[in-house]
Amino acid sequence: MNLGRTPFDISAKTHDPNAGLRGDYAHMAADYTVPQDMTRYDAAMQDRWQRLLSRQLELLPGRACRDFIEAVTLLDMKRGIPSLDEVNAQLTARTRWTLVGVPGLLPDDVFFTHLAHRRFPVTVWLREEHEFDYIVEPDLFHDFFGHVPMLFTPVYADYLQRYGEGGLKAAALDGLGWLARLYWYTIEFGLLREDGGVRAYGAGILSSPKELVYAVESPTSRRLPFDVLEVMRTPYLIDDVQAQYFVLESFPQLLDETAPDFAPYYRSLDAEAAAHA
Ligand code: PHE
Ligand code: CO
Repeated sequence: MNLGRTPFDISAKTHDPNAGLRGDYAHMAADYTVPQDMTRYDAAMQDRWQRLLSRQLELLPGRACRDFIEAVTLLDMKRGIPSLDEVNAQLTARTRWTLVGVPGLLPDDVFFTHLAHRRFPVTVWLREEHEFDYIVEPDLFHDFFGHVPMLFTPVYADYLQRYGEGGLKAAALDGLGWLARLYWYTIEFGLLREDGGVRAYGAGILSSPKELVYAVESPTSRRLPFDVLEVMRTPYLIDDVQAQYFVLESFPQLLDETAPDFAPYYRSLDAEAAAHA
């Protein structure tokens, strides 16, 4: 499954018109935002949205974390492809986040700047029928269904803003390679202990039928205790289910463990890597 690729390795691509990135990068604003234009979604797309949604909703009980399920209920996505403006009316009131439409993956600095200002970029186009089970780049379904519900949880919402600020800082410290793994193993593939079991809060898991079952239930998937340095030491896969997941005890744990200055972490990870080279 590959619905949750990080944006960190695409800077070059967004500046190369022949690189094959999907989405209309020609008519966007300077901050890479585009209007959503609800008329772009035809009946076939609305139908595809409903089928993607039904398949995923059925898998949530016992596998998605409580906050995710509550927000999914609130959002009532069965009414059709959501209007970002309408959702913003609810979301901004709850956690002061705003959804913005984008053509697709963004350069690092643009992405982090949006997050640091509590703006979440949502890809406006929906995958095609032949991509129903597998899509290489994040589309509207991954970005909206996977990411938006968690933005209704205040402590998670604060973490994501801090991640954006931390990304800008890491870029200046040459630490992005390390910090990207934290995004991957939390925002995209994070698990949380709840009700004596393990539940998903990461968007890459929650938007994938295969990985939602695998991550939470497979006896062979490795579920390790969350530890920031261990996360940063662990490479990830972009085109298959993850070889391991990191399990939080609570969202406050995530805020606490990511509060320290990461500059010394990056330097000691560099030193470890140099020693193994
Ligand atoms: N504490 C990190 C730093 O000093 C910033 C950060 C916070 C990064 C939360 C990610 C998530 O660089
Ligand atoms: Co994602």
